[in-house]
Amino acid sequence: MISFTVNGKPVSVEDPPSTPLLWVIRDSLNLTGTKFGCGMALCGACTVHIDGQAVRSCVAPVSRAEGKKVTTIEGISPDLTHPLQQAWIEIDVPQCGYCQSGQIMSAAVLLAEKAAPTDEDIDEAMSGNICRCGTYPRIRRAIHRAAEIKAQKGAK
Ligand code: FES
Ligand code: FES
Repeated sequence: MISFTVNGKPVSVEDPPSTPLLWVIRDSLNLTGTKFGCGMALCGACTVHIDGQAVRSCVAPVSRAEGKKVTTIEGISPDLTHPLQQAWIEIDVPQCGYCQSGQIMSAAVLLAEKAAPTDEDIDEAMSGNICRCGTYPRIRRAIHRAAEIKAQKGAK
């Protein structure tokens, strides 16, 4: 039995410790917002947070989550009020959408670490997240916009 929290809720799973966290999240916990892309830590579609750090859940064994706080795209906010969600909607970022939960999870770590990231910061932080639809320019704009929204909320 491996115990951790997912989006603030305590969970215990009986999957073998070497099972990729991605499959535990999707199949055992039925949180299907996190996507499988490459399975080899190359595309970022499966990005979640463990204790606030971006992790490729396709290659992270569930044992790595023991006693930790896991956040998935479903936990980023309950009501679309996270600045990234607001910016993503405003700028209409997704095309097919498949990569986008991973994009947002990586962007969330960037924004937590840098309140006003530059284009270079964004390109570096997001370089591990591939979008086959080529939404990179909108992703970059949306991260800048999310930083503005976050600053405005902080100023209130
Ligand atoms: S599915 Fe995990 S990085 Fe591609
Ligand atoms: S929106 Fe289609 S892969 Fe990124």
